[in-house]
Amino acid sequence: MCGIVGIVGHQPVAQRLIDGLKRLEYRGYDSAGIATLCQGDIAIRRAKGKLQALQNLYDQDPIEGVIGIGHTRWATHGVPSEANAHPHISDRVAVVHNGIIENYAGLKEMLLNKGHQFASQTDTEAVVHLMTDYLSQGNSPIEALRRTLADIEGAFALVILVKGVEDTLLVARRGSPLVIGEGDGESYVGSDALVLAPWTQRLRYLEEGDYAIVSAQSIQIFNAQDQHVDRPVKTINISADAATKGGYDHFMLKEIFEQPTTVKDTVESLIDSSAETLNLPVDIDWNNISKLTMIACGTSYFSTAVAKYWFEMIARIPVEIDIASEFRYRESPLPKGGAALFISQSGETIDTLEAMKQAKADHQTTIAIVNVAESSMDRLADFSVHTKAGPEIGVASTKAFTAQLAVLACLCLDAAQKRGTLTSSQVQDHIQHLLNLPNEIYGILQKEADYQQVAHRMQPARDALYLGRGTNFPIAMEGALKLKEISYIHAEGYAAGEMKHGPIALIDDLMPVIVLAPHDKWMVKTLSNLQEVIARGGIAICFTDRLGRQHIEQDKIPAQIVEMPLSHPLTAPILYALPMQLLSYYTALLKGTDVDQPRNLAKSVTVE
Ligand code: G6P
Repeated sequence: MCGIVGIVGHQPVAQRLIDGLKRLEYRGYDSAGIATLCQGDIAIRRAKGKLQALQNLYDQDPIEGVIGIGHTRWATHGVPSEANAHPHISDRVAVVHNGIIENYAGLKEMLLNKGHQFASQTDTEAVVHLMTDYLSQGNSPIEALRRTLADIEGAFALVILVKGVEDTLLVARRGSPLVIGEGDGESYVGSDALVLAPWTQRLRYLEEGDYAIVSAQSIQIFNAQDQHVDRPVKTINISADAATKGGYDHFMLKEIFEQPTTVKDTVESLIDSSAETLNLPVDIDWNNISKLTMIACGTSYFSTAVAKYWFEMIARIPVEIDIASEFRYRESPLPKGGAALFISQSGETIDTLEAMKQAKADHQTTIAIVNVAESSMDRLADFSVHTKAGPEIGVASTKAFTAQLAVLACLCLDAAQKRGTLTSSQVQDHIQHLLNLPNEIYGILQKEADYQQVAHRMQPARDALYLGRGTNFPIAMEGALKLKEISYIHAEGYAAGEMKHGPIALIDDLMPVIVLAPHDKWMVKTLSNLQEVIARGGIAICFTDRLGRQHIEQDKIPAQIVEMPLSHPLTAPILYALPMQLLSYYTALLKGTDVDQPRNLAKSVTVE
């Protein structure tokens, strides 16, 4: 959510800043801008809309400079416009910011009274004028930064250029991520490791409250107490190719088709495939965990919803799940000896991160499942397990979700093994199914024509309903979320048995109803709900397997069937998530929406 980048060195930076923003565009695409210091002045280019608009502007009217900053915006304060695009500048400084300055209104009033003139509706501009004010009082740039940081409240990652200081970027972080990269005779700053990937893999992650002076040759970091600190250099190997579409039309499609590999990599990082035994990087004492609270946002929340069934049914641990933004203010009493598990692709979603801090303060054992190594949650949790999905660029999450489910399945088996709720042969049977997942995923992804055909039925709809029971109830919710996110069709995911308590009133002959019904202990009940849809004239489309098809055909239920392979109860929700992803993708294609950058959304949500 808002991406920032900075370069200081001896070579021109402007085009490279724009190239960096291309790798950050998933974080926001309302507007973009760059600023450099050039011949004693601040040069700036900003454009409303996608990054290409900035590129076009720059091509017509390039700027020079060997030090500069860039920003891609997801609007919070102020509409998407050129005036509200970052960098924001005064005659002394240029600033890019990710986060929210919560006390900006009071600061703005104070600064207006002092004669500062504001050019935007953003909260960020308060930082610009505070810095300017402190500089004009005779403070050094670093002293002006310290004073500014003492005045501002909220969450931020900031990168600041100061006119006249041609070899230094000032940076600070509180709440929003920021990483500093060491190059050869050049230094870099960015929101994540991916933006820096083509330039350097030697990274220093700022801790909460840190600020730094970054020049081409040196990096001086200070903590919130103004003490000089050393943050270790980490080598992060991310291929810059991850930020390309690799021949696919969209990142989302590429990421969907990567799932045989990403699930394989994830499963094989947790299971010894030749011995068919668990081989986890963490040793969690599941026997002494009285209750498990799982917390996340968005698609990651639906992973917790699947895992609740698994942990309760298989490992017999009571589980509560919550949306992070609700958990934070619910004041839920957490039990002594409880564990709290947090799931996040980015590892930075602010609500989830804050919920983790709260759980720590409540003496819960904290466990993170994240896709981004060295992210804030990865570093804060007592135990952290990585999904091996690789960088996910498409705003609608796909491969991160199935990798999260793979990790959760392994953790659940670990818990069941340690608690003795499964025999060793049952554990092995489950492991074999997890090891076979990549093949099954591959097979399901090959049936594109089936999903394209269903997409044609979805395209004209204004509303759609997704129904499932058990572990496929969360998949119904995830399917509905995917459709909403990228095709803008209103969709609800419902527990199939709950349909009669409300959504059934919506069903008419324009309403597609997607029913997920693998052959499991819930199937017969779910197929009764399918009948109820048909009885009311709904467009019934059932994703089921060979045994489900037999049942439907025997009962002469006139539903469209999309046949899935027979699945094991543990892996069924992972497999049924796949056609939901492709269905929303093909529906969005038919509607002509922007699949990878759907309106109003962004990834890595670092505002509350
Ligand atoms: C945003 C993204 C979703 C994602 C959610 C949670 O809403 O668009 O795809 O599921 O954030 O993100 P996280 O990084 O915490 O999994």
